[in-house]
Amino acid sequence: MSANIAPTRKQFPADFLWGVSTSSFQIEGAGREDGKGESIWDRFCSEPGRIRDGSNGLVACDHYHRWPQDLDLAKQLGVNAYRFSIAWPRILPRGRGAVNEAGLAFYDRLVDGMLERGMDPWATLYHWDLPQVLQAQGGWISRDTVTAFLEYTDLVTRRLGDRVKHWITHNEPWCSCIMGYWEGVHAPGGTSLADAMQACHHVLLSHGQAVSVIRKNSPDAQVGITLSLHPIAAASDSVADQAALKRHDGLRNRWFLDPLFGRGYPEDTLALLGAAAPRVQPGDLDTIATPTDFLGVNYYFPEMVADDPSASHGPMRAKLVDRPGVERTGFGWEVSPQGLVDLLTRIQRDYAPAAIQLTENGSTFEDVLTPEGRVHDAQRLSYLQRHLAALHRAMEVGVPVKGYFAWSLLDNFEWAEGYLRRFGLAYVDYATQQRTLKDSGLWYGRFLNE
Ligand code: FCB
Repeated sequence: MSANIAPTRKQFPADFLWGVSTSSFQIEGAGREDGKGESIWDRFCSEPGRIRDGSNGLVACDHYHRWPQDLDLAKQLGVNAYRFSIAWPRILPRGRGAVNEAGLAFYDRLVDGMLERGMDPWATLYHWDLPQVLQAQGGWISRDTVTAFLEYTDLVTRRLGDRVKHWITHNEPWCSCIMGYWEGVHAPGGTSLADAMQACHHVLLSHGQAVSVIRKNSPDAQVGITLSLHPIAAASDSVADQAALKRHDGLRNRWFLDPLFGRGYPEDTLALLGAAAPRVQPGDLDTIATPTDFLGVNYYFPEMVADDPSASHGPMRAKLVDRPGVERTGFGWEVSPQGLVDLLTRIQRDYAPAAIQLTENGSTFEDVLTPEGRVHDAQRLSYLQRHLAALHRAMEVGVPVKGYFAWSLLDNFEWAEGYLRRFGLAYVDYATQQRTLKDSGLWYGRFLNE
């Protein structure tokens, strides 16, 4: 198949999973309803200057009330799997202890709604909305949060584990920890590398411990973790840039993959972190390496790096550089379907996971709703088609990808960008909450139904 021609569904295995991906804070709204507690993202949004358009998640897509219609939309597309996340503070408003029954009942209805529509529920336990109460006690920097996460996991998987058979412990620890505790651009807005690395360690530890809790409460379930991973190139062939590539890859990719696949933290990265390296207790690395059923991969863009001897971008001494003249999304992210092939083949070569789920892939562009009620998002459509073609190429050379989840069903709250970035297959008019399938969504529906 040529690189630019969209594949057909029939070219993929009959049991391939086709889904859409969403997350609680980004779509649910109902931020103060039915006993939900405050999350770190609620708090972060209330701090001036944090969110580019000054918005918050209090209403978002109002999915908390409109979920039947949203699940109908997903069904209309023809997906057989639906990825969602559970808002911890909706279930445990104070992080641990008293249970909010209304929160559990919401996810009961949502899961039943998926099953009634023939969609396999794929639940993510942590997509970044930590209860604010736990943040006040240190958040992920504190080892107690690992225990709290296990209590939450136990509660949720006891309740939903009879029907939800696919569990993702964490979404993108790099983002929740590095962007949240070091770069200061995501909640909770921390700016310490040492804190971020300790948070990362606790997130990975909580993942490993959660695997056995989930298996106990949800017999026959498949369990995994989702990472944001990037193929990385060096800006030149120089020895200095090649070494920068290796250093950057150490923190970006290997820091997570190595311990999950039983190799412990990469020695070269540990050495560069120096005093910022996390405190690790005996047995932690064995726990993190608990075998899972699949690796979730979120792929958006490749990166290019050059040597940064000044270390002004951190101890990896690598700086991101823009590859000149390439196609980019509205976010400025490089569009590279081949990057997906490179990434997947590298993961397969270096780690050989039993199965890979592409748990997110998508793009943002300036969308315009025409007076006729159409959104002609030709660039997103092309992005989707070319990434599916790339996925197929990776599978042809033996990468065991078992499912693809498009990010996202709906336009939604894009974190620090607020509502300025639209990633949906469906356009959301936030004033009326009207959903309109874009041309990309209409195409995905035809692709899935052919
Ligand atoms: C990923 C996040 C997801 C969404 C997309 C665009 O990093 O997992 O919530 O924001 O980026």
